Amino acid sequence: MRSLLFVPADSPKKLDKAMASGADALIVDLEDSIALDGKAAARQSAAAFLKEAMASAARPYVMVRVNGLQTGLTDADLDTIAPARPDAIMLPKTEGGAAVIHADAKLAVREATAGLPDGHIKILPIATETAAALFLTGTFAGASARLIGLTWGAEDLSAELGAQTNRDAQGRFLDPYRLARTLCLAGAAAASVQAIDTVYVDFRNAEGFRRECEEACRDGFTGKMAIHPAQVPIINDVFTPSASAITHARAVVAAFAANPGAGVVGIGGVMYDRPHLCRAKQLLARTERRE
Ligand code: COA
Ligand code: MG
Repeated sequence: MRSLLFVPADSPKKLDKAMASGADALIVDLEDSIALDGKAAARQSAAAFLKEAMASAARPYVMVRVNGLQTGLTDADLDTIAPARPDAIMLPKTEGGAAVIHADAKLAVREATAGLPDGHIKILPIATETAAALFLTGTFAGASARLIGLTWGAEDLSAELGAQTNRDAQGRFLDPYRLARTLCLAGAAAASVQAIDTVYVDFRNAEGFRRECEEACRDGFTGKMAIHPAQVPIINDVFTPSASAITHARAVVAAFAANPGAGVVGIGGVMYDRPHLCRAKQLLARTERRE
């Protein structure tokens, strides 16, 4: 998944528009973009949308961001949306693997009740939204077979840390958030799942957005969340491996295949060893999954 577009669950117009946005995944939001007294109506709107969307032939991956386990709202969210068979839930304010195990159990009950296969609904946690969560980013490995990735958030974290801002004057994340970003990346790699970069709220700034996508891709993220349809094509462009990157990865794999048992090879005057082979294989696997 390269692009994941947030859509407030209470906006049928945006939900329709999102279906045609070109995003690999939609995140139908029941959490921060919905006011407390609108939660019940938003759940109904999300379920009605899922009913149609999940049945349409060419559709994106569809997940629902439920309210966090701390809120007391998660059960009612799941009661309404699980029977409508979303591909996944996004779990905000997740505090480590234990919270994923908790959500897994809640989903298993709903799947049994609704007659869905056990494990059908996957989980994508936002892993860095509380201070406590930062210390638990290494605990996701093996928590649940439902885990499909990790993403991170800076808005709730900055509120929790008491910060005045989370970005500098040039729009780059400040140190506490760069740490959270790195912990998400390492936590995802340790759990062998996809790392997905956070949102960029300045949605009219295409140049700043592209730079942030490129920096994320460079560092090992393989997708990014969007809040506006205009961000989707930029994400898809940056996170799709280029033809030259694919050719190069194939050359690295071929060089090792031609030298069985070799730990290191030279291509065009440059040394490649096992980590390079591993990276080349990962890139080709991502490309093949989309073909
Ligand atoms: N998904 C689908 N459609 C969207 C959209 C989204 N996330 N954001 C905007 N659009 C639609 C608008 O409805 C508008 O449609 P129209 O041309 O038919 O009127 C069009 O895209 C252009 O929108 P624009 O006028 O540029 O922005 P806006 O002022 O209407 O909306 C936001 C700005 C921030 C309110 C909106 O982008 C949004 O709701 N984003 C998601 C917020 C969210 O879910 N936050 C939680 C996660 S951090
Ligand atoms: Mg939030």
